[in-house]
Formats: sequence, structure tokens, C-alpha cells
Amino acid sequence: MSMSHKKLEKNINLMAVFIVIVVSIGGLVEILPLIFQDQVRTPAEGIEPYPPLELAGRDVYVREGCYNCHSQMIRPFRSETVRYGPYSVAGESVYDRPHQWGSKRTGPDLARVGGRYSDDWHRIHLLNPRDVVPASNMPGYPWLEGAAIDAAEIRTRMRALRALGDPYTDDQIESAETAVEGKSEMDALIAYLQGLGKARSGR
Ligand code: HEC
Repeated sequence: MSMSHKKLEKNINLMAVFIVIVVSIGGLVEILPLIFQDQVRTPAEGIEPYPPLELAGRDVYVREGCYNCHSQMIRPFRSETVRYGPYSVAGESVYDRPHQWGSKRTGPDLARVGGRYSDDWHRIHLLNPRDVVPASNMPGYPWLEGAAIDAAEIRTRMRALRALGDPYTDDQIESAETAVEGKSEMDALIAYLQGLGKARSGR
């Protein structure tokens, strides 16, 4: 062992500094391309910023932790594309902050679930999954039915997203409140699910 290496290993502060440097390089190599590569910043064909109701539903999805059991990332393997549809591409996630790719599949991937079932099916399933899939271990979310969307807040969220680069128009932001008026969190979540992957699945 060289002298300098010995010094490094015996000095915990120096060691900590070097660990941070090494880990940072690993992080930068993964993160920087995502900021600068066009292919991950350009929306894929048909991908638009979320309409107000779907945007509200996406927040419910994140809050309820659906990503703990569901991925939204179809890998480019035959076993996946036959089951779920066309594989996921980066340009589909440009308006997802944060993305919901997930890594745990207790339940099926949801990247292309839009249009696969009716709204009624989703409602019954989300109230109590066992009513439609007897062996399901997914929890029910009955409280979503009675929870109203905060109509005033949705505009603020859209403005915040526009500040980050999402191309919402003034009209879209102005009419957002009307779009979610009187809707429940259940309506919003279903709207979000029904929009998932439609641009690429062709449904
Ligand atoms: C504890 C794990 C778990 C959680 C949390 C969970 N799910 Fe599920 N989900 C499952 C399982 C397992 C299935 C498959 C059985 C079924 O259809 O109920 C499933 C199925 C589904 C399906 C049908 C997918 C298909 O292609 O058939 C949808 C849609 C869905 N879940 C949405 C959600 C949403 C939205 C949330 C959050 C509000 C959620 N899930 C939370 C485990 C979970």
C-alpha cells in the first residue's frame, strides 16, 4: 500500500471527502445525460401536458403510493410487449414530474392501461378490487369517492408546471377550474388511468 493510500484510509474525514467525490461521479454520469439529451426531453408523438382532471388524478396516484405495487415502464422484451403493449420510450415521460416508472410489480404494469377497462370497471375495482378480481391483494380506496378536488389549487399547479417548461396555454389554465369542478378524487384518478399510454397503444 502506498503512503498516500494509507493516509487516506486512516483519516476518516479525508476518506469521507473522497467517497463523496467518487459517488458524485457515478451520479453525474447517470443524471447529466437526462438533462441534455434531446431524446429524453422531446415529447414522444401524441404526448401532451396532462389535462387538469388527469393532473389532479396523477397527484392522487402519487399520494396513495400506487407506484409501490405498479410500474409504468414496459421493457423492450417480447414477454412484456405481448402482455402490455408497445414498450415505453423516454419521450413519454417528459411531463411526468416525478416519473412513475417504479420498480415493484406486485400488480401489473400500468403504462398502457388507458382504455383497457371501462370507467365503471375502474370505479368498482378501486372501491374494492375483490369485487372484480376475487384473488386480488390490492387494497381498496373507498374514500376517494367522497373527496373533492381542490379546484382553485389546480391552476396554481399548472402555472408551476409551466414555469418548469410544460407548454400550458393561458386558456388551459383559465379553464382548469371548470374542468375539475364538482369532480371527486375518484373521477380524477380514473381519468388519469384512462389516459395512460393511449398515445402509443393506439386505443
Ligand atoms: C399492495 C399492492 C397494490 C397497491 C398499493 C395498488 N395495487 Fe393496483 N393492483 C395490485 C394487484 C395485485 C393487481 C392485480 C389484481 C387486480 O386486478 O386487482 C392490481 C391491479 C390494478 C389494476 C388493473 C391492471 C390491469 O391491467 O388489469 C389497476 C388499474 C390498478 N391496480 C390501479 C391501482 C391504483 C390506481 C392504485 C393506487 C390508488 C393501486 N392500484 C394500488 C396491487 C396493488
